[in-house]
Amino acid sequence: MFSKQTIYDYDIGGKKVLVRADYNVPLDKEGKITSNFRIKQSIPTLNALIDKGCKIVICSHLGRPKGPDDKSCSLKPVAKELSKLLKKDIVFVSDCVGDNVRKATSEMSPGDIVLLENVRFHPEEEKNDEDFARGIIASTGAEVFVQDGFGVVHRAHATTDAIARQLPALAGLLLEREVDTITNVMQDPKRPLLAIIGGAKIADKIEIIYKFIDIADGLVIGGAMANTFLKAQGVRVGESLVDDDDLDTARDIMKRVRSVMKERNFTFYLPQDGVVSTEIDNKTKTRIVDWDTHDIAEIEAYPAKPKADSMKVKANEKILDIGPYSGAFISGIIQTMSTVVWNGTMGVSELDALHGSIGPFAHGTEAVIDALLGKYGNIPFSLIGGGDTSGYIEDRKLTDMFSHVSTGGGASLELMAGKELPGVAVLWNK
Ligand code: 3PG
Repeated sequence: MFSKQTIYDYDIGGKKVLVRADYNVPLDKEGKITSNFRIKQSIPTLNALIDKGCKIVICSHLGRPKGPDDKSCSLKPVAKELSKLLKKDIVFVSDCVGDNVRKATSEMSPGDIVLLENVRFHPEEEKNDEDFARGIIASTGAEVFVQDGFGVVHRAHATTDAIARQLPALAGLLLEREVDTITNVMQDPKRPLLAIIGGAKIADKIEIIYKFIDIADGLVIGGAMANTFLKAQGVRVGESLVDDDDLDTARDIMKRVRSVMKERNFTFYLPQDGVVSTEIDNKTKTRIVDWDTHDIAEIEAYPAKPKADSMKVKANEKILDIGPYSGAFISGIIQTMSTVVWNGTMGVSELDALHGSIGPFAHGTEAVIDALLGKYGNIPFSLIGGGDTSGYIEDRKLTDMFSHVSTGGGASLELMAGKELPGVAVLWNK
């Protein structure tokens, strides 16, 4: 049960509320928002505050700006998008403290929304500076603080920590849903529970990998991270992305898995085939390499003996996706599961397709999506996390089809690992 006070536990009717959102959205080179997922997910809280007649001032960060003049990190495009989604005028102020903020927030009517410029334009934000937080409160006249930026609550910054110590500090509806859902899956999942972990680096996910070995009934490793495990097992991976510093970590993880398998039923799966190419683009020829079972290689070549390179990644090739055999195997594992946590795509999923609808290295990711959405019958509870995975699902317009797609990257990983999130801990208890 969520233990923090939410906007429904405190009398905020008609008050001026400072909402911390996480509008750290991806932008293209022209400054256009490429995924509005985080903005959309903040709407229920904003609508609830509008219904309560609140005057709403929103602050957020975007990216990691190099200074106040780094306009590539301005929140101005977010104001436009928010206005479109809410069908409402949004006043944008080009700073988060000072006279302009005072002016824009002094004459607000109930339901009005002001969005402040990127709080990280001030270095004091990341230093968790109390005076800076006090300055935002003084400039905006905020009476209550609402934390709804789940993606940033693993940071103890001025607008996630210091500011919450100076006002009644409540959780927004997105924050509540994220914390509740992820905590429930980690503490009391409907079993069997499977974790599918992909993405590039073991180092980013090491804590949750060990955590899932302890609590889950199965673990699947995919994405570039799998290359390090494969290399640690002696598979030739050519020029594939590998964390050479983490080869020992991969060996240690597999040792831990073997010891858990002796104690109880536990499924561990590493890809046994992959889609390889010499270039990461959508023009260069790809091929499937079957480094483990030899099944595909033998079927393809029969009655001839398969060529040696159909079972080996060549020195100049990279593994860029899991192969069809692995996709089928993972889909099969999913059939036996009641809950699946998925973080990290199975391959380089961001390339557009030159032919067909799916990018050249996104078929493994698609296989997981199909299985999770019930193509073969079973529909497990699906918790999706990680920027690349949720970004892909958003691009494919499938977000609403999963049980929960988290807006958090680092925050969801830390919560899953069982760490305390400073931006949640500081909120008022129920
Ligand atoms: C995220 O995208 O994970 C959050 O917005 C936090 O951003 P940060 O890693 O720059 O603190």
